Order: sequence, then C-alpha cells, then structure tokens
Amino acid sequence: MNKLLIASLTVLLIASFANAQKGILGFTPLYQGYTQEQYTCMRNSENNFKYQNLVEKQIWGYDRYHKEGYKYALNVGLSTNSIYIPCINLDKEQFPYFTQENQALTFLKYFRQNYDVLKGDFVWIVIEQNQTKNCQWHTDTTINCGILDEIATQVRRTTVGANNFGFLSSKNDWNALFGNKCNRYNTFPLHYKNYDNKPNFSDWNEQKFGGWAKPTMKTYAKGKFECYVDSDLTVY
Ligand SMILES: *[C@@H]1O[C@H](CO)[C@@H](O)[C@H](O)[C@H]1NC(C)=O
Ligand SMILES: *[C@@H]1O[C@H](CO)[C@@H](O)[C@H](O)[C@H]1NC(C)=O
Repeated sequence: MNKLLIASLTVLLIASFANAQKGILGFTPLYQGYTQEQYTCMRNSENNFKYQNLVEKQIWGYDRYHKEGYKYALNVGLSTNSIYIPCINLDKEQFPYFTQENQALTFLKYFRQNYDVLKGDFVWIVIEQNQTKNCQWHTDTTINCGILDEIATQVRRTTVGANNFGFLSSKNDWNALFGNKCNRYNTFPLHYKNYDNKPNFSDWNEQKFGGWAKPTMKTYAKGKFECYVDSDLTVY
C-alpha cells in the first residue's frame, strides 16, 4: 500500500453490506481528485458506500483535492475519514522544519479548517515501514516508540484529535517498527491491513499485534476498481 500512497491521494469508502460494513480504499493520482460523478457512482453502486477516507501526507503539505473530495462526498451523503502519514525524518539537519510536532500541528490545523468530526470524520495515523526517502522510521524499536509517543501527543493536544484518531498498520509493520515495546495505544481504534480477501475479522487471532484486543477496521483486498478508482477494499 505504501508505494501507492506515496504517489497518490487516497480515498476510502466504507459501505454497508449485509451485517458487515464494507468499504473502499481508493487511490487517485496526485494533484488530480475524483469528480462529483465518481462520488455519485460510488454512492449508487451496489456496495452502498458510506464513508470516504482521504489521505494526507504531510511532507507534501495539504492537497487541495482533499477538501474538494470531502465536499463532493458530502453532496451525495458520504462522510469522510482522513489518513495522516507522518514523515519520520531522521535527517533533522537537512529538513529542520519537519519535526513531528510541526508536521502534526500543520496537518491538524488544515484538518480542523476543512472537516467536521460531527459528520463522521476521523484521523487514521499510518504506521508503515518503507516510507519515502528521508521519511523512514528508525531501526531501533525503542526510538520508534518514542517517535510514536510524540506523534500521539501532538494529535491528542488538539481538540479534533482527542477522541477522533486511531492507527492504521499491519502485524508485519508494527512488529518490525516497535516489537512489543509500544503496546500502550491499544485503547485507540485500530485499522489493520491483511490482504487475505476476506471481508471479516476471522484472521484477527492470527494477525493481532500491539496489544489490541480487537480491531475496528480491516483492509482485506487491493488492486480492485470501483467507479474507475484504483482501490483497496475495507471492512468494519
Ligand atoms: C520493507 O522493507 C523491509 C526491509 O528492507 C523488507 O523486508 C519488507 O519486505 C518491506 N516491506 C514492504 C511492504 O515493502
Ligand atoms: C470470512 O470470509 C471468508 C471469505 O468470504 C469466508 O469464507 C469465511 O466463512 C468468513 N468467516 C466468517 C467467520 O464469517
């Protein structure tokens, strides 16, 4: 997923399907949002989408299509989640501006200006290995856990983030970055990735990590197309 995220603005649409809620994590080209027609198509599809999830990668700054997509989605009754991908930036001399604090505060400032948590908005913080160059996590799990604490502190400080954020990761990513040293976030919602093509949580016992007792959302498939949107599929 990471490579696609690096090259794109992401949209996640969650849908009702039988008892489970199903959704889509779609990827738009950078600097090019979806049209209103595409949101309408998603709304009208048999998947009955409910939520839209747009990605934010702070080292690029804020993408204006984020806001546009949010409006298009609202027009057809879809509410929005946001995804925040922190740049870890271990090279503080070369990129002095990108401290965790600056990144999180800048992101949350725009988030507050453009979103409405009362309409279902929510921030997922992406925890993945193999970020873009200059944005990689450390190889030391203790240092990484300290960085995560810093990110969470910044998000918590803002009113919007206090009760409206969770983590998006996978067993593989989380264990590689933190081992079992950072299990203190398990009271926050978790969105995990496991591309097993099963729209349910039957894999959770074998996928669990980070001390979470149960997940909130799962990305279970990738490389799908919905309304001409390159998508991953989610369930919650
Ligand atoms: C990320 O990088 C590690 C170390 O190079 C590698 O083992 C792993 O397969 C990579 N993961 C992905 C999802 O590319
Ligand atoms: C999960 O989904 C798979 C694939 O659709 C299905 O075979 C399996 O029975 C489901 N498990 C549960 C517990 O619903």
